[in-house]
Amino acid sequence: MAFRLPANRLCRAAATPAISTIRPLASLLRSSAQASQSRWLATPAPPVTQNSVGSQGPTAMVFLNMGGPSTVDEVGDFLSRLFADADLIPLGRLQSYLGPLIASRRTPKIQKQYAAIGGGSPIRKWSEHQCAEMCKILDEISPQTAPHKPYVAFRYANPLTEEMYKRLLADGFGGGKGGRAVAFTQYPQYSCSTTGSSLNELWKWRQRLEGKTGPLEDGSDGTIKWSVIDRWPVHAGLVEAFARNIEEKLLEYPEERRNSVVLLFSAHSLPMTVVNRGDPYPAEVGATVHAVMERLKFSNPYRLCWQSQVGPQPWLGPQTQMSVDEYVAKGQKDLLLIPIAFTSDHIETLFELDEEVIGESGHPDTIKRVESLNGNPIFIQALADLAKTHLDSGIACSSQMGLRCPGCKSERCTESKKFFAGQDITAA
Ligand code: FES
Repeated sequence: MAFRLPANRLCRAAATPAISTIRPLASLLRSSAQASQSRWLATPAPPVTQNSVGSQGPTAMVFLNMGGPSTVDEVGDFLSRLFADADLIPLGRLQSYLGPLIASRRTPKIQKQYAAIGGGSPIRKWSEHQCAEMCKILDEISPQTAPHKPYVAFRYANPLTEEMYKRLLADGFGGGKGGRAVAFTQYPQYSCSTTGSSLNELWKWRQRLEGKTGPLEDGSDGTIKWSVIDRWPVHAGLVEAFARNIEEKLLEYPEERRNSVVLLFSAHSLPMTVVNRGDPYPAEVGATVHAVMERLKFSNPYRLCWQSQVGPQPWLGPQTQMSVDEYVAKGQKDLLLIPIAFTSDHIETLFELDEEVIGESGHPDTIKRVESLNGNPIFIQALADLAKTHLDSGIACSSQMGLRCPGCKSERCTESKKFFAGQDITAA
């Protein structure tokens, strides 16, 4: 079974030689690929407009992510919001005191890091590009829900969730008119500190901006009907996009050493308080790593390590930096770093991995990093495939999303999960 690009997307893919060949996928991903393939073999539908007869659209497609400051001047506000988020960095009762303190102390250092990668994070540029391109594909493969309108909602940087929600209302969604929106997390693996935090924020702004809407004459309340794509750690297209990038980078090593290069998958770490609460993220990141290695036929030795720890609390390890140092000390200098939990470049790849881990390793010729997914057409096709499958499914969210962590004490989690799992999207 093969993960294929649709015929009308092959021209874009062909522009990138490394992804122009089609490779087999693991059997566990077969059903998704089969569904995708049959859709892609269909004749492309004509362009759809908002007035098309029979269309259930427009559909708002909202990408959720943490975001990053687009300019150095935005770093302070970004860090303030980040350290104020108890879903991400739980600081207990001292959160409102410690959060701003840590943020202001870290701002000058982090500003220098953003200056070193060109003056800001590219995550907004890539998110807007990925979402817009995905919507174009969706208009072709899902005409019944077209037109698809792209939106981005960041948790800690512009465009913030509040701004996105106000734009939705201004564009004619909700506010008495109803309509359908899909919250599509751009974290492939679910964590309560990332996707969970973004959904809690989305629920908060939904309650503030639409929560008081009463019943209309037709019995509806005229609010936006939300559904959620809350995780996709082993989606065939995601796995394929990672695998192709790894294969491409491995070609830079001499053939006789290529199979002994250690693949070091690196994901953002979590405080152990979050892990021990029962967060699903470590297991889902492990699932992605295993699926990618299965696709590569376990061609190389590999390990999963964790980066970006902040503060004195214990975090999930081993740390990426320490892992590189220890392997080098053991004589293993051929190391390929693979960011496995983010879908576009950001400070953790461009500065932390490239400048710190690789730049300070003393072996920049043998320690390398694979490209981030960014504008990769296989990845963007995968996003469209995921969205199409979700729109066809008629479900509000995965069954997994309704389950709280065993150690969760958060009222926000209770209420937001109840809200999203209870959405009747068939009535939209
Ligand atoms: Fe995981 Fe609340 S912290 S559900």
